[in-house]
Amino acid sequence: MTLPQHDLCLIVDFGSQVTQLIARRLREIGIYAEIHPFQTVTVEALAKWKPKAVILSGGPASVVHEDSPRPPREVFELGVPVLGICYGQQVMMEMLGGKVEGGKISGGGGTAEFGRAYVEPVGDLALLDGWFEAGREQVWMSHGDHVSRLAPGFDVFGTSPNAPYAITADPERRFYAVQFHPEVHHTPKGATLYANFARAAGFTGDWTMGAYREEAIEKIRAEVGDAKVICALSGGVDSSVAAVLIHEAIGDQLTCVFVDHGLLREGEADEVVAMFRDHYNMPLIHAEEQDRFLDALDGVSDPEVKRKTIGRLFIDVFQDHADRIEGVEFLAQGTLYPDVIESVSFSGGPSATIKSHHNVGGLPEKMGLKLVEPLRELFKDEVRALGHELGLPRHFIGRHPFPGPGLAIRCPGEITREKLAILRRADAVYIDQIRRHGLYDEIWQAFAALLPVRTVGVMGDGRTYDYACALRAVTSVDGMTADYYPFTHEFLGETATRIINEVQGINRVTYDITSKPPGTIEWE
Ligand code: XMP
Repeated sequence: MTLPQHDLCLIVDFGSQVTQLIARRLREIGIYAEIHPFQTVTVEALAKWKPKAVILSGGPASVVHEDSPRPPREVFELGVPVLGICYGQQVMMEMLGGKVEGGKISGGGGTAEFGRAYVEPVGDLALLDGWFEAGREQVWMSHGDHVSRLAPGFDVFGTSPNAPYAITADPERRFYAVQFHPEVHHTPKGATLYANFARAAGFTGDWTMGAYREEAIEKIRAEVGDAKVICALSGGVDSSVAAVLIHEAIGDQLTCVFVDHGLLREGEADEVVAMFRDHYNMPLIHAEEQDRFLDALDGVSDPEVKRKTIGRLFIDVFQDHADRIEGVEFLAQGTLYPDVIESVSFSGGPSATIKSHHNVGGLPEKMGLKLVEPLRELFKDEVRALGHELGLPRHFIGRHPFPGPGLAIRCPGEITREKLAILRRADAVYIDQIRRHGLYDEIWQAFAALLPVRTVGVMGDGRTYDYACALRAVTSVDGMTADYYPFTHEFLGETATRIINEVQGINRVTYDITSKPPGTIEWE
């Protein structure tokens, strides 16, 4: 997967929860970084990858245990800078001749430590240029063990009350070891430390989305040749960016299939078709299959049955349309880097964690297609940057995620065309409110759900008996955990009034304040 044009910073993963953040901090400053689980970092792999620098991540193991994970000793013989973080620091010390001890939970001088700490400087170190301007720096610690004796050649350059060896280095060999996590936001000068490390390694910062675009286009052309490619375009950021990039590479050899399952939001289908067919001039099949989906969903109220029905039909529809295009050899997918990073597992080998929804129902195998996945090297924020680079409008790139089963899972219970029409309107008014108040980009995902209950209300002189709707808005980083968004009461009141006045069929509005866990973001 490594792009040979770019100098590589290799991140050896020992299983820290925040390893991905190391790669992201580096990518943000134009350094190409890849994460590999420690088991896969062999001498042969090092020879192949030729990293320009190596970072040893944190991890849950203890180097005090004999069978704890280690990188190959050759990592220290490459002649490139090495940065050890937390567990990585301890591994480094142990392997280079120092000593590590298990942590005591209380008391001074090298104990277990979790949370904010302050480091003070000891001497000068280029890795810390820009640090200590205000005397001390805040860092984030999370460790049980600690280094009790430095390896030969190392000196101390920063200490904290509980971590006498908070920052150590052997500047001549360009080996650096820190006890804290510079990749997390709670270490405010962490990015500076990574920039200094990259400078010590001689990186030029050539990893930009402008350069990526050019290289990816060349790569797609070489991979695809004269063959045809199909792409299931959902209108989401990943498939949209993938489609535009591939179209730029191979033009009309790409056909996009946009499956309209009748569960889209207001104006969504028109917007996608206008953008890709009219603006980008792409061959686009607008598969208007609303009836096929909604008929199959008639009377279905179980969420899992809804999902399975939609998933199965999606594959059938996509296949029907794709079969009509001659000479198709490739299926384009918007798979991202977090989906292909192998995770560290201590029981046995590294486990692949490719998410199943990125390989819808085994479609490529079923149709005998090869895959083109031009976003495999990118994090989500890089995909957005690439989208800007390719000229996709800002409001399109910044859109909240929308689930494949669409409004079906925002309409608990049985779905009807009438309910979908009401939900679409309510959702549109709600999102309009959020945009008008300038809140859209602060919120990770927001939508309305139509509840399967009717309640009594009074409007004018008349009694109403209409649906209740729930509004949902969450903040999140990756959708795995989420908090409800704290709208003001004024905003909620104004939005409820607008929905009840503007949406026929709703006479009651509620706001969902459940976090995830224990709730999920969607209602089904
Ligand atoms: P939950 O409801 O599980 O949602 O907290 C987490 C994130 O995943 C999205 N989601 C889906 N996306 N197919 C998708 O493509 C699905 O079946 C699906 N279910 C949930 C949801 O919108 C949220 O962003």
